[in-house]
Amino acid sequence: MVHLIGSHIDITERKQAEAELMQHRQHLEEQVALRTAELSSARDAAESANKAKSEFLASMSHELRTPLNAILGYSQLMGTDPSLSENIQDQAHEIEHAGKHLLLLVNDMIDLARIEAGKLDLTIETVSAKSVISASLGMVTSMAEKQGILLINECRLGHDESVSADPNRLTQVIINLLTNAIKYNRPQGTVRLTCTTCDDKLRISVTDTGSGIPAEKQERIFNAFDRLGRENGAVEGTGIGLIITKRIVEAMSGTIGFESTLNQGSTFWVELCLSN
Ligand SMILES: Nc1ncnc2c1ncn2[C@@H]1O[C@H](COP(=O)(O)OP(=O)(O)OP(=O)(O)O)[C@@H](O)[C@H]1O
Ligand SMILES: [Mg+2]
Repeated sequence: MVHLIGSHIDITERKQAEAELMQHRQHLEEQVALRTAELSSARDAAESANKAKSEFLASMSHELRTPLNAILGYSQLMGTDPSLSENIQDQAHEIEHAGKHLLLLVNDMIDLARIEAGKLDLTIETVSAKSVISASLGMVTSMAEKQGILLINECRLGHDESVSADPNRLTQVIINLLTNAIKYNRPQGTVRLTCTTCDDKLRISVTDTGSGIPAEKQERIFNAFDRLGRENGAVEGTGIGLIITKRIVEAMSGTIGFESTLNQGSTFWVELCLSN
């Protein structure tokens, strides 16, 4: 004789819960797929808008450079033409001066457009840091003199201390930092350039005695076209020097940073790999 003992459990609720869970999961998966598709099409749209913007900027800048060179050429000729009155020659010098300023601006815009489009061409070589630093200082000497700023070169490197960098771009980087240190200095201030080596890195620092950068504005310093409230001030600028500098330094596998104390001054530094 066989005895059967059984128990009876009603699993309707469990089945229902499982079905609901399944439904939720399916819904969630659909939502994730939908959001992913939305994000990817938003990213594609942003990428193509960015590409179009960069191409527009690059071609516009190119279109601007050609007539600008003609303006510069003719104003230079007129400024030195003895058959013209002194007054006209002076006016031609003004045109030349403004034209040169505009050309610098256009060149910066081309650089930024190229960088943002990922088309910055670099030729990385073994470069003597000392020579690049001397050349860069030489290029800002007259600007510093005009503004009554004392330039001090405290770089004690030998000629054989080299870094891996694109020499022209490294010169541009140092000039940008020196130019800012001169522009945003106080009257009769100083700009000091120092070099230190640590392990396989060389740090080039530019220290000024200017008004410094307020703590609450410091995070905006590398934003394009942000002049940290100096837009209407007496010092001219576009607000793209530092972002260009940062991108170039990073493209050379280097780093850039700064420290600033209000009313005392700032130190901007770049660090590159020594290539000895
Ligand atoms: N050494 C400095 N001391 C104080 N403020 C500085 C210094 N360097 C940069 N800044 C601030 O950061 C802003 C951005 O600097 P950045 O070099 O990018 O642009 P800019 O000098 O205004 O114009 P440009 O594009 O001609 O270089 C400046 O407008 C200025 O307010
Ligand atoms: Mg600048």
